[in-house]
Amino acid sequence: MNKKALAAYIVIAFIVSTIAVISGFSREQWEITSVRDSAFGVRMRSAVSFNHDEHNEKAAIDDCTECHHDYDENGEKMDYSTEESECSECHMADGKTRMDLMRAYHLNCKGCHEDEKAGPVMCGECHVNK
Ligand code: HEC
Ligand code: HEC
Ligand code: HEC
Ligand code: HEC
Repeated sequence: MNKKALAAYIVIAFIVSTIAVISGFSREQWEITSVRDSAFGVRMRSAVSFNHDEHNEKAAIDDCTECHHDYDENGEKMDYSTEESECSECHMADGKTRMDLMRAYHLNCKGCHEDEKAGPVMCGECHVNK
């Protein structure tokens, strides 16, 4: 290998590994089978089963902003989706606690199940024991 080829090889290897590292931090939605917000750390309850794509198909939710939302100062929902962020990035910001984050999850998930009279509302139906 001459020097130019070696330099090109190093540059390409660097770019490829950088992409691998970056993409390793985010998942594709069809790979998700449970909710596990990193902000909780140690949990009191078992993991929440949530088969992302299967759930949304069965529940016929087309609008990503049902969950991946944002709102403006007037409380109007924005029209863009925020799936790049964990819920905790907004719901535990500004000195809020894990209680607030838990409430946000419960309001969103259980709230819709109650409204639609479909989907689990009992603790053990979502926090399925291992
Ligand atoms: C019923 C609520 C809900 C709906 C609707 C929903 N998602 Fe999600 N999605 C979640 C939850 C909850 C997570 C996070 C799981 C976690 O953090 O453990 C997630 C995670 C993701 C992730 C992975 C993010 C990462 O880096 O880990 C992607 C990508 C995603 N959703 C895309 C979408 C798209 C695109 C749509 C619309 C077609 C959509 N979601 C609709 C609840 C929802
Ligand atoms: C980009 C920031 C952001 C992200 C990410 C985000 N939210 Fe929110 N959410 C807000 C804002 C802003 C409001 C409105 C003000 C408030 O109630 O704090 C709100 C309101 C809510 C509400 C009360 C209003 C309603 O829809 O009934 C719930 C419940 C909620 N969010 C749950 C979630 C869940 C669950 C996730 C993750 C799937 C999530 N949020 C992701 C910013 C965000
Ligand atoms: C906008 C409404 C809506 C939201 C938001 C929602 N769900 Fe559901 N969910 C449903 C409906 C409707 C069903 C029943 C689907 C069926 O079986 O017909 C359901 C079913 C389920 C089931 C039963 C198994 C399955 O996959 O069908 C689980 C578990 C579940 N939801 C968890 C969650 C979790 C966790 C969240 C929050 C991250 C959430 N859901 C948010 C509407 C919703
Ligand atoms: C519709 C589904 C659903 C139901 C029903 C539900 N939860 Fe949750 N709960 C969630 C989701 C989603 C989270 C976020 C989980 C995560 O990120 O690990 C959560 C988080 C929590 C947390 C904070 C994380 C931890 O384990 O310390 C506690 C505590 C909790 N739930 C207790 C309860 C209790 C008690 C009940 C019954 C009164 C209940 N939940 C019912 C979906 C549900």
